[in-house]
Amino acid sequence: MRAVDIIMKKRNGAELSDVEIRFLIEGYVKGEIPDYQVSSLLMAIFFKGMTPAETASLTNIMLNSGDRMDLSGIAGPFIDKHSTGGVGDKISLPLAPIVAACGVKVPMMSGRALGHTGGTLDKLESIPGYFTSLELSAFRKGIIEDGFAMTGQTSRVVPADKKLYALRDVTATVESIPLITASILSKKVAEGADGIVFDVKCGSGAFMKTLDDARSLATSLVATGSAMGKQVVAVLTDMSQPLGYKVGNFLEIEETLDCLEGKGPGDVMELVYRLGSWMLVLGGVAKNLDEGRVRCEEVVASGEALDLFYRNVSRQGGNIAEMLYRRNTWRSEHVRELRAERSGYLSSIDALEIGLAGVYLGVGRNRTEDAVSPTAGFVFNKKRSDRVEKGELIATLYGKDEESLEPAYTMAASAISISDSVPPASALILEEITSQ
Ligand code: URA
Repeated sequence: MRAVDIIMKKRNGAELSDVEIRFLIEGYVKGEIPDYQVSSLLMAIFFKGMTPAETASLTNIMLNSGDRMDLSGIAGPFIDKHSTGGVGDKISLPLAPIVAACGVKVPMMSGRALGHTGGTLDKLESIPGYFTSLELSAFRKGIIEDGFAMTGQTSRVVPADKKLYALRDVTATVESIPLITASILSKKVAEGADGIVFDVKCGSGAFMKTLDDARSLATSLVATGSAMGKQVVAVLTDMSQPLGYKVGNFLEIEETLDCLEGKGPGDVMELVYRLGSWMLVLGGVAKNLDEGRVRCEEVVASGEALDLFYRNVSRQGGNIAEMLYRRNTWRSEHVRELRAERSGYLSSIDALEIGLAGVYLGVGRNRTEDAVSPTAGFVFNKKRSDRVEKGELIATLYGKDEESLEPAYTMAASAISISDSVPPASALILEEITSQ
């Protein structure tokens, strides 16, 4: 078998066999096939796509390139949630303890902020003392005793993705539905979940900007995940404005606490309850979404979910007293206010621009090795469609230093549009795709 023949076959639009995909990917991971040939293959896939069978083969081969989380001996069901990334997207933080309190185990492996999107691990690490690198035994113990645990991915999970993603990044082949599907799904299946609820974001602050693209990715994730024997649902959600009122690392911990006390922002609560309901349905502890929602609301109202969150914080080294002491007061001293230039209605708070401004402030990072600030970010006083009067406070910016404020302010100001009339209402949950 020769790599060049396989590349040519894909270039000509034919379907590759499992053996051919395995030859190239395994050879690449072992260092036997050079970057330039795999780059060509990736570009051929970018233009010619992959059939569902090819995507499933690629996902399986990537999955088997590394370790899988061993959850054997722990009573399930194990259901996870994955977001394709957004701004102010703190959903995993309240969701995991809520779902765990309802009796479904959540083995959650999360990522860090990169570019304009935030990262769950960075948010958790803003809690004084909290650590996110759990050994397998500690991860298992957290799942057994609290129903969930939060960790990052080790380098042993899907090493093929690390190599392939780095190559895609420099060969303009990231935005390919089959490649994204295999990258995301291989990592999720390695976590050992029986089912996965995908939150596929759509809009300016999302990876997928249009509903058509988001739908294609969602359909591909559901089809490939189902073909691999997993229960999979994709919920398409709006990411054209940030979620909630707070964007930042510790700021989003504060909003998480609000949610777990039942008083979180409307959009965050809506999404948490919807995704949570799906997780309970996939986990078999709720017969339908209505019943799932009632269960999720009950564990918030009873304080059980908040209690589990505290238990997790304490288990992972976090100082609860310090977290609560700093709540709503721990802010960077470098502050700038963004006020309305005229009266009207907020017609947009562009999520991409806010996310990019957040990188200047120190919420996110441009390169994986950059540090983030726990106290940087945005506190919004308004959401889209709200009435504003000239000079009224729309948002407060907190920067990692004084220099970060000016570029962030300029970018944030350009994210805001004010119109004379109320903008048309828009839905947060756009569509749901199931395997049926
Ligand atoms: N997130 C991933 O993990 N992989 C991709 O390819 C794109 C987004």
